[in-house]
Amino acid sequence: MSAVVIVGAQWGDEGKGKIVDIYTEFADVVVRYAGGPNAGHTLVVGDEKLVVRLLPSGILREGSTCILGQGMVIDLDVLVGEIDELLRRGRTHVEAQLWISDRAHLVLPYHILVDTLREGTAKEGKALGTTKKGIGPAYEDKVRRVGIRAGDLKDKSKLTSKIASALEAWEPVIKALGGESPTVAQVLATLEPRIPRILPRLANASKMVDDAVRAKKRVMFEGAQGTLLDIDHGTYPFVTSSSAVAGGAAIGSGIGPNRISTVIGITKAYATRVGAGPFPTELEDASGKHLREVGAEFGSVTGRPRRTGWLDIPALRYAARVNGLDGLALTKVDVLTGLDKLRVCVAYDTPEGRTDDLPIDYLDEPGRAIPVFEELQGWSESLNTVRVLEQLPAAARAYVRFIEDRSGVPIYLVSVGPRRDETIMLHNPFVGRAAAP
Ligand code: IMP
Repeated sequence: MSAVVIVGAQWGDEGKGKIVDIYTEFADVVVRYAGGPNAGHTLVVGDEKLVVRLLPSGILREGSTCILGQGMVIDLDVLVGEIDELLRRGRTHVEAQLWISDRAHLVLPYHILVDTLREGTAKEGKALGTTKKGIGPAYEDKVRRVGIRAGDLKDKSKLTSKIASALEAWEPVIKALGGESPTVAQVLATLEPRIPRILPRLANASKMVDDAVRAKKRVMFEGAQGTLLDIDHGTYPFVTSSSAVAGGAAIGSGIGPNRISTVIGITKAYATRVGAGPFPTELEDASGKHLREVGAEFGSVTGRPRRTGWLDIPALRYAARVNGLDGLALTKVDVLTGLDKLRVCVAYDTPEGRTDDLPIDYLDEPGRAIPVFEELQGWSESLNTVRVLEQLPAAARAYVRFIEDRSGVPIYLVSVGPRRDETIMLHNPFVGRAAAP
């Protein structure tokens, strides 16, 4: 049985796109289980690049089943736009291999409006720096039990009355934020053209995924965002609104946790964060600039420059714990080339003393969690042609081993460049041994 969860071990943007793409080749079924169009990953179509926000990465592989699980929030305009873009590029198989959980919630225009107004009107220091895609308000509706689910599209009169109830609750909020609420008719008008495209794609996704696992198909759960943005385990309140961690794969796809066989965490060789919130190893010097420029650290959904910093081992150990990581995929090691000295956070000084655990509750209190760094030697050689660990310069090999030793998680893969072949594959959970990328 191979049911493999791929999860971001940091604040998102760990380079999941490339890693998921490599493993997708071995997967029969690819499932997204959390988040919505706030995610962004790059698909390569021939020589062109396409950033998708909702479609699972497996969509380009003819014959692979792609599922949007019920833990997601789906904006139908974005989804249909992505499908149409792929159809325009000649990928005619795309629509038939996509299935949408009838229990997934919809992101509607009033969610986007509220998200945007809140971010725009937040007092100094209070904005979360969201992607303004309506994610938070859509999940708010889900837990307030007034959300609209994809299955509601089947019955127009039920849909109309549910939208009316949700809007009734949002109207005073929108007014207080200085906005103008859309009417029920306006919301319906945005949905109606999409309905005939979506209805045939609705499915009991939980059963589909469970059947696939039982039939010993190779199932990959594609995480979105990252551990430290998880609603429960992230740096709350500077988090997204869904369960980004590996446990979210069970909840968000509707299978039992014991069906999952392997969890792989993806971490960059350094750290980045977009949006507001604590980032203890953040750099604002030449090294930070190097990481942003060489690593092309600009948001794929919003284009915002990402904050950059040194790798945080306590954060990685925390991710190992809350996700149950079996292995690590270490990305963007090549970006460190040219830095003379590398620093890695190995512990924190807190009011209770030194700890190698992530003191997550102290992170946003100035002076209460001071990172303790160790310095390692950098390297100047290009890594892009390296395909086995032994070819890495000694300092880079030492850096990789340091991360493995200190995090306590075996390294399954090392990425040394953006291209698919710029990869050192050490262990592939779908085939049980190294396989050429
Ligand atoms: P939201 O998910 O749009 O509500 O944004 C909440 C926080 O999560 C903000 O700090 C965003 O920048 C961050 N965020 C959401 N999605 C991603 C992602 O895919 N990568 C990195 N950060 C993200």
